[in-house]
Amino acid sequence: MRKPVSRVLVINDEPLVLKEFLRSLNAAARSLDNPLGIVFTGVTTAKQALAAIEEDGDLQAVVVDDKLYTINGGKSRKLQMSALELVQRVTRLRPELDVYILIAQEQEDEVVDALFAEAVDGYFYREEKDYRGIYRIVNAQIQEKARTPFYDQLKNYVWMAKDSWHTPGHSSGESLRNDPWVSDFYEFMGEHIFDADLSVSVPMLDSLMEPRGVIAEAQAMAAKAFGARRTFFATNGTSTANKVIFQTLLAPGEKLLLDRNCHKSVHHGVVLSGAHPIYLNSSVNRKYGLYGPVPKRTIFEAIEAHPDAEALILTSCTYDGLRYDLPAIVEAAHEKGIKVIIDEAWYGFARFHPEFRPTALEAGADYATQSTHKVMSAFSQASMIHVNDPQFNEHIFRENFNMHTSTSPQYAMIASLDVARKQMMMEGYKLLTRTLALAQELRKQIDSTGVFRVLALEELLPEEVRHDGIRLDPTKVTVDISRSGYTVEELQRELFDRFNIQVEKSTFNTLTLLLTIGTTRSKVSRLYDALMRIAREGRAPQRLYQFPDIPEFTKLRFLPRDAYYAGGEAVPLLDEKDNVNRALVDRVCADQITPYPPGIPVLVPGQQITRTVVDFLVGLLRSQKRVEMHGIVYDGYLPCLRVLKPGEEKSLKKIG
Ligand SMILES: Cc1ncc(COP(=O)(O)O)c(C=O)c1O
Repeated sequence: MRKPVSRVLVINDEPLVLKEFLRSLNAAARSLDNPLGIVFTGVTTAKQALAAIEEDGDLQAVVVDDKLYTINGGKSRKLQMSALELVQRVTRLRPELDVYILIAQEQEDEVVDALFAEAVDGYFYREEKDYRGIYRIVNAQIQEKARTPFYDQLKNYVWMAKDSWHTPGHSSGESLRNDPWVSDFYEFMGEHIFDADLSVSVPMLDSLMEPRGVIAEAQAMAAKAFGARRTFFATNGTSTANKVIFQTLLAPGEKLLLDRNCHKSVHHGVVLSGAHPIYLNSSVNRKYGLYGPVPKRTIFEAIEAHPDAEALILTSCTYDGLRYDLPAIVEAAHEKGIKVIIDEAWYGFARFHPEFRPTALEAGADYATQSTHKVMSAFSQASMIHVNDPQFNEHIFRENFNMHTSTSPQYAMIASLDVARKQMMMEGYKLLTRTLALAQELRKQIDSTGVFRVLALEELLPEEVRHDGIRLDPTKVTVDISRSGYTVEELQRELFDRFNIQVEKSTFNTLTLLLTIGTTRSKVSRLYDALMRIAREGRAPQRLYQFPDIPEFTKLRFLPRDAYYAGGEAVPLLDEKDNVNRALVDRVCADQITPYPPGIPVLVPGQQITRTVVDFLVGLLRSQKRVEMHGIVYDGYLPCLRVLKPGEEKSLKKIG
């Protein structure tokens, strides 16, 4: 394993003092145990310090002099910046860095008082010249950040090689290892997948359901890293994380404001919690078939119209990288006592680079759910729930968390969350800086093909959200393919079959590429090469058929949960003559009907069906385009909707 480099920046305004400091600290680092490769470097001005912090991805800590002066030829001394201001600027830029202050003994109280509320990790007295002591403390603290309590314990346990008399049944892979039929699976997956697949029967590995040991420690470290009061590891993705929060915050019948374009887990959470949803229509960019954020005005109006709502949930950033101006929205919701949940499934890394901040929590949100696995180094399904709600009800949360959590969670997944946190803490800034540079390079290269074109923020934004302060996450790259002569399906096939490239998602005339901390320059070059070759074919553009607009939301007549559990009957979408079945008009849907893509529900349980909706669904079913239609039930070959029976409509409580 490569040894890391950990640079520590010392900021002192007197060059000779600084030189002596660095020489002595580096001597201490050389003579003592130094597994993290700690090296001290220095600058004499606050400006240089901020530049170094921005440029040097290997920095792990800064040691700041309590006052920084500019010395003019030994004559005058002008204050450059107070330690307080510098610390604030450092933590704004890189909150993951350890910060220490160098003080003179006589100023101790004054300096410590001024920095009381800041994230300062320790103080050193300049005059003591205890360089070995300083090194030991700095080293210990960086080692602490780099710890992975759960993963370390899991590894220890595996190396202890205990005989297993417990689940799982493969017993550290023994049932597969020399088996004539399935040992290839063992070999393909690798021995540690099986060794590390353990169970709650091993007490030293703690319990996800009631963490008190290494899982509790790992979660606390994640909370500190991501800026939360509490963090919980979810081993069934953000899909489950969203449901857990809904069931915690919402009792049946209580109001929830939600973007209609939220992930389907949010809509499922509405059914499970029994909430009364108030749908907010997302903006639509018809030119590119993209559903954008909900206009700020719509959100503010909904908050005003429903001050009795318990919670508001929005997705930020969206799949296409559009992120809300959250502070203003959170403030408006909080004024009415509405809790704010932000689905950050695609944005978990944001804390670790100023380009992406503020994060939802930094903007004041009460809850943030993140698919760590989507954009960081965790295994699929490994997510985090971050909580900053001052009224957090841990007992209710725990009951709901445990309701959704398997009693046999996958330990490799928990370990991967621990490791993903460590990686972001130790080198997230560096990796994201590289990812941003690659994104910029890729954008330029794609545009240089002359055929493919990356959409800028202004082009992605639907008209109605132009002035809403929305920003773009540049690691999500949406490419206009309309001049390529390919349909999006043909292009995806060509990229896959001929160039071994699989993209993230598409609309009728765009492809979206996702860059992550795992994107390499070689991958960028291969993609560019592929697009350039296709561009040079010079195919004549062809007409691309647009996905029709999702019809406007109609009317919610019953709570989704009541309608979903009512029973219902299947009514065909087409009549005997294969015409659109008008008998469905004015009935109430019992299921969620979602064409995928784009994944926005056309109907939710409890919603009134209209002629426009039936025409839309039949149109999709008859179109040549392959669209999955989630929620449609088949009676033989006949596609049907499950709708409430007239008697059920009478017996259910109507929404006022
Ligand atoms: C906005 C959003 N939220 C939640 C999820 C669900 O996340 P997970 O796959 O971690 O369950 C997704 C998945 O695509 C998503 O796009």
